Amino acid sequence: MKIIYRGAESLIYEDAFEGQESIIKERREKNYRVKQLDDRLRKERTRKEVKLLTEARKVGVLTPKILNVNEKDCKIIMENISGIRIKEFLNSANDNDVKKVCFEIGKLIGKLHQNNIIHGDLTTSNMILKGEEIYFIDFGLGEISSRIEDKGVDLRLFMEALNSTHFKIADKCWSYFVGGYKKEYVGAEQILEKVKEIKKRVRYAER
Ligand SMILES: Nc1ncnc2c1ncn2[C@@H]1O[C@H](COP(=O)(O)OP(=O)(O)OP(=O)(O)O)[C@@H](O)[C@H]1O
Ligand SMILES: [Mg+2]
Repeated sequence: MKIIYRGAESLIYEDAFEGQESIIKERREKNYRVKQLDDRLRKERTRKEVKLLTEARKVGVLTPKILNVNEKDCKIIMENISGIRIKEFLNSANDNDVKKVCFEIGKLIGKLHQNNIIHGDLTTSNMILKGEEIYFIDFGLGEISSRIEDKGVDLRLFMEALNSTHFKIADKCWSYFVGGYKKEYVGAEQILEKVKEIKKRVRYAER
C-alpha cells in the first residue's frame, strides 16, 4: 500500500485489487464530528461518488472504472488513471495546448450539465489528462439537478479555481472553456448569465 494523497476528507492509496494496480479512496473517520453524523456523511458521499462516476461515464465523460465498493468502510476501489493532473499540466503547457485542453474541458462539463450532472468540486486537481483524454474524478460533493442555479454555482466554482490556481492564464482559460461549453450544451447561455449574476451577488454581499 502506497499513500499518494492525504486530503481533508479522504486517504488515497495505491494497491493491487485482483491483480490489477488500483486506487483506493477511503473516507476515514473524523474525530471532531459526532460519530453518527460522520458515519452518515461519509457513507452518503461514498455512495454519491460511485453513482455520479458511473452516470458521468454513461453520458460519455471519462471517469475511473469502479472495481469494488465497500460502503461499510467507505472505500471505493477504482482504476488507476496514470496521467498528469490538469493543475500541473496547465502550469507548464504552451498556448496551443492550453487552448485545446480548456476547450475540451468546456465540452466535457457541457456534457455533464446537459445531462444534469453537477460535479460539485470543479477544480483542476480533479481532472487528469491521460494521453489525449481527460478524466474527471472526485464527485463526492456532486448531485443530479436540472436547476440553472446549481449549474451556475458549479461553473462559478471552476472560475474561482482558475483564478486562484492559474491566475496568470485564468481569463484565457475561461474564454476557451466557454467556447467548448457552448459548443456542447444547448442551454449554455442561461447558465453563463447565471454565473455573472452569482458573481454580482457575491460582490454585493461582500460590501
Ligand atoms: N482514480 C485515480 N487515478 C489516479 N489518481 C487519482 C485517482 N483518484 C484520485 N487520484 C489522486 O488523488 C487526489 C485526490 O483524490 P480526490 O480528489 O478524489 O480526493 P479528495 O480531494 O480528498 O476528495 P474529497 O473532496 O472527497 O476530500 C487527486 O487529485 C489525484 O491526484
Ligand atoms: Mg479532489
